[in-house]
Amino acid sequence: MSAMTIIAEAPRLILRRFDATDLDAVAALMANPDVMRFSLGVYSREQSLSLLERLIADNKANRPTLYAAMHRADEKLIGYCGFLHQKVGGKDELEIGYRFHPDYWNQGIATEAARAVRDYGFGRLGLDHLVSFIHPDNHASRRVTEKNGMQLETEIIFRGFPTQVFGISRPVQTAALCKLQIKTLWKFQ
Ligand SMILES: CC(C)(COP(=O)(O)OP(=O)(O)OC[C@H]1O[C@@H](n2cnc3c(N)ncnc32)[C@H](O)[C@@H]1OP(=O)(O)O)[C@@H](O)C(=O)NCCC(=O)NCCS
Repeated sequence: MSAMTIIAEAPRLILRRFDATDLDAVAALMANPDVMRFSLGVYSREQSLSLLERLIADNKANRPTLYAAMHRADEKLIGYCGFLHQKVGGKDELEIGYRFHPDYWNQGIATEAARAVRDYGFGRLGLDHLVSFIHPDNHASRRVTEKNGMQLETEIIFRGFPTQVFGISRPVQTAALCKLQIKTLWKFQ
């Protein structure tokens, strides 16, 4: 795995950019009814291919996107975590989204991934605010947002479902550090 493709690291995971060789793993994940339970249904292989092509295009354009979650212990692609572009009340927001294979649920894996993506968003990308969209019956996902420091901000209808919007703002010290880095960069230009 080249350093260029790695986005963030967590104790048990490496988050890296997707590439075309990931199709089998993505198609298997997105065809699993448990993984897709709170979504619009399982994906066909063609739908997974379009998703993968979109994620690869995002990377080429340097747009924040979803990243492959590689499990260090067995070197398998076990899910994804990253950014989805959303609107909340007319405002552009980046959502932290995630899906993981059920063999790896309830071990704190999604929380590790979500925290790493949050820190990457506030640190490297200098974002001010992040959200996660939660289906009211998706208790596990809600718990991940809480463990990621997010709080319920509003409720919306998303793709026809009542959806809770959890959010977190960039912590003050990160904001101050970013401003300092920007000032220092200007000084040396
Ligand atoms: C949501 C999802 C990512 C969570 O992954 P995970 O690796 O199991 O998450 P974690 O282990 O970090 O945390 C899960 C938490 O939810 C809790 N939990 C799990 N099922 C629960 C349930 N039915 N009711 C209440 N809490 C539940 C766990 O106990 C754990 O909390 P704890 O650490 O306080 O004990 C995973 O279930 C998944 O991929 N689901 C399908 C896709 C999905 O729903 N994605 C999100 C919305 S698109």
